[in-house]
Amino acid sequence: MIPYNVLIKDDVIAARVDSLAGEIASSFADSPTILVGILRGSVVFLSDLMRAVFHHGMCPEVDFMILSSYEEGSKPGVLCVVQDVRLDLAGKSVLLVDDIADTGATLAQARELLLAKGAARVATCVLLDKPSRRKVDFTPDFAGFKIDDLFVVGYGLDHANRYRCLPFIATVTGQGE
Ligand code: IMP
Ligand code: MG
Repeated sequence: MIPYNVLIKDDVIAARVDSLAGEIASSFADSPTILVGILRGSVVFLSDLMRAVFHHGMCPEVDFMILSSYEEGSKPGVLCVVQDVRLDLAGKSVLLVDDIADTGATLAQARELLLAKGAARVATCVLLDKPSRRKVDFTPDFAGFKIDDLFVVGYGLDHANRYRCLPFIATVTGQGE
């Protein structure tokens, strides 16, 4: 197994997801809402969040988009839509969900894409926010935890597509096997 340090434990994440769901439910009261998860990083967070908002009175539709971004030197990544949303977003309130806001480039561009599809409102929600890494003007509407400039894995976040399955957020402290 890989050597890691736990940064945010399972029960701390679960409590914060529940309180975030309460904030989201108050903010989206009375508007039909679609949760859009950005794959693959949002998969664990979104599956917990969609059940948590149900306990706060929401029963949103759920859709996904697969995005990848290509870094060019120090410039923020250029976004490529690998798979687009399939639901009609026109006139709807959308909550765009991702694992982490790092440079902010992914969510800032994804938000514009969904607004261009006619969504009435696109709010953004991340489990983790690394504000010190920002390269574009972006602030998530809902954020679970602000963290320092650390590379983290687990709870959906990967390193070279590994470690998404860790049920907590951790920093990797060595190479492992
Ligand atoms: P952005 O720089 O805000 O556009 O973030 C792009 C993507 O980089 C995120 O959706 C994550 O998939 C990935 N990412 C950023 N920071 C980390 C990290 O600490 N661990 C794992 N993935 C990260
Ligand atoms: Mg991602």
